[in-house]
Amino acid sequence: MNFHVLTLFPEMIEQGLSESITGRALKQNIISLDTVNIRDFANNKHNKVDDYTYGGGAGMLMQAEPVYGAIKSVTDKIKHPCRVIYVTPQGKRFDQHMAMDFAGNEDLVFLCGHYEGIDERVLEETVTDYVSIGDYVLTGGELAAMVMIDAISRLVPGVLHNDISAETESFHGKLLEYPQYSRPFSWHGKEVPAVLMSGNQKQIDAWRLEQSIMRTRQRRPDLYDEYQKLSKCREFLLDNNKLLHIDMIELINRGRAEIIYGEDDEYLLRDINTGIGFHTKPEGAIAFAFDIEDNMKPACIILHQTKYIKQLEEAGYNNNAVCKQAVWTRREKMPARGLYKTDAGITEDGYTIKLLCRDDFEAAAKLYKGFDGDGYLYDRIMDGAVYGAFDIERLIGVIGLHEEGSIGMLSVDPEYRRKKLAMALETYIFNLAIEKGQIPYGQVIIGNEASMALQKKLGLYFSKTDIVWMENKKISVEK
Ligand code: ADE
Repeated sequence: MNFHVLTLFPEMIEQGLSESITGRALKQNIISLDTVNIRDFANNKHNKVDDYTYGGGAGMLMQAEPVYGAIKSVTDKIKHPCRVIYVTPQGKRFDQHMAMDFAGNEDLVFLCGHYEGIDERVLEETVTDYVSIGDYVLTGGELAAMVMIDAISRLVPGVLHNDISAETESFHGKLLEYPQYSRPFSWHGKEVPAVLMSGNQKQIDAWRLEQSIMRTRQRRPDLYDEYQKLSKCREFLLDNNKLLHIDMIELINRGRAEIIYGEDDEYLLRDINTGIGFHTKPEGAIAFAFDIEDNMKPACIILHQTKYIKQLEEAGYNNNAVCKQAVWTRREKMPARGLYKTDAGITEDGYTIKLLCRDDFEAAAKLYKGFDGDGYLYDRIMDGAVYGAFDIERLIGVIGLHEEGSIGMLSVDPEYRRKKLAMALETYIFNLAIEKGQIPYGQVIIGNEASMALQKKLGLYFSKTDIVWMENKKISVEK
């Protein structure tokens, strides 16, 4: 992941991020940092980048042209469209959800202001996100950018040594941390709680959860309220047709769910990463799904029943696919089957399975022809979500994690069919998810008999009823 920071004080950013965990990640090239001095784009001999404000008022304003030049120098290099984040106290409040959303991008550009702000015209033309780190005013955007970069970096795979910890914190991420203790056992007459010395991990986990809940209720009632709503929704989904609702359950488990509406037997969740709305059991009208609030219009709704297809079609949504959820319901990993024999992702015939990178895109696009078009495949590769099987250098099969969390995109080169390669790829990616503590699932389009047969052979269970993907191309997903 590449961070680009446009600032008048590049050294402040470089020094601030060169220590500790971000420093190590930079040295290991897991993240990169490119600072651009806006002053280098001044077009006068004094390198001045600020001027008085039209209409009067105290203080100086950063001028449009140097800021524009600095931004262009970065975006021209990146070549693909990317998020340009202006750090400003007037922005949307930064939080863990936003950090997760940003962590899914390959490049992020941060624009740090100084003085009294920046000429509005260059902001209008270039900025995609206005973000604040809190309701107070700093002397400049640098510290705010560093705070965000730190929080985003720790979500990038490989930055924390224990990758799983950043992910599994997620659902509990709605809760504050439980109290922790280190040696000595007794300090100032206070002993470590006995349960932590018991060696019984189940009891320890239960105690920690209880402490987290208590602490959150006392210190952050707002977070506690959200946690309770999601817990109630999760319980409902677990008790009612668990296999059908596995996508929603995992959305909550993986810390990506926001409740838009929830009561008794009707829930609408929103995926904070994609903006997709997940909808279950509506008894009455469906109209609320697209006129709740401006930023909550789902471009896509995943219905967990077929009853309302017609009404949604009338409202401008297309029925893209009717599927069944196929779920691996056990905690233990899938046994190695077919050609997949080792954890290193090496098949019996010596084919290797590994994460795809940008250079593999063209070969992957020849194999995977999804209805989403090549742009989607490219984005998933850049997000580190697509794996491939290789016969030496030749890409012979792909599989990936869809944006909303299901496993799919499975395609095998026709010359390499009937070698159990699909089985190998699927076992590999399912086991990666299980290692992360997730419940892996895929969605099989009804009528795809070959895929149905494969899922059965692998030991997956199908939801009895169907889910339907409805998409409205006129509404773009707002993040
Ligand atoms: N620049 C000045 N104050 C800020 C804040 N609170 N958040 C982001 N950028 C800022």
